[in-house]
Amino acid sequence: MPRQFFVGGNFKMNPASREAKRTLIKTLNDAALDPSVGAQITFRFLTVYLTKDVKVAAQNCYVKLSGAFTGEISPSQLADAGIPYVVLGHSERRTLFHESSELVAQKTRVALDNGLSVILCVGETLSEREAEKTKEVVEKQLEPVTQQLKEADWQKIVIAYEPVWAIGTGKVASSAQAQQAHADIRAFLVKAVSPAVAESTRIIYGGSVTASNCKELATQKDVDGFLVGGASLKPEFVDIINATK
Ligand code: G3H
Repeated sequence: MPRQFFVGGNFKMNPASREAKRTLIKTLNDAALDPSVGAQITFRFLTVYLTKDVKVAAQNCYVKLSGAFTGEISPSQLADAGIPYVVLGHSERRTLFHESSELVAQKTRVALDNGLSVILCVGETLSEREAEKTKEVVEKQLEPVTQQLKEADWQKIVIAYEPVWAIGTGKVASSAQAQQAHADIRAFLVKAVSPAVAESTRIIYGGSVTASNCKELATQKDVDGFLVGGASLKPEFVDIINATK
């Protein structure tokens, strides 16, 4: 079965005002979105404004279901609130909040166990790429997940390859660079999980995706969609969702 194209808009801690939020969601609600694309945006409180079949994702969750963990949110609380997806392991979480790949793997397991689907982010820094360590770094980030989740329902995991040097910098990976990294991730899944999981798992690209570069990236055979930051806050996000139209 062909992999369904998947586009996520990662709003991060944006937009700041309610008015800007309404305007942003109105753009999506009014747009003609390709119905064959799985689209999601990350900001739970937007559910109140959405009329389109666009799913809402949380940007993080904790490994515990309840308890004295001020500021955290549990996967079961997200599921109870009707939030179907959670983004885990984003480079901003790994860097600014010191999340290890082991913690990201634990979070992934608990999120799946509690009915959420996971958008799992991986990616190398510029110095790692320059040292030709991209494959090694990404595999190390994925290893704890594949070890803990060999038997999981991989239909509920989308892998987002997001080179750190491309995030918010305007320096998008070339389509060849993205294709190579995605093909390497798929080859890793063949060994670490199974050929069937490798074939069916969606691997999406994130890092300075815009309306003008998305169509070429989308032609690459292992690029199954996008995780979009800055451009998801602009009307061009609609063109990115519709990149394969
Ligand atoms: O999760 C999204 C990524 O951080 C990409 O952000 O599109 O602003 O580069 P960006």
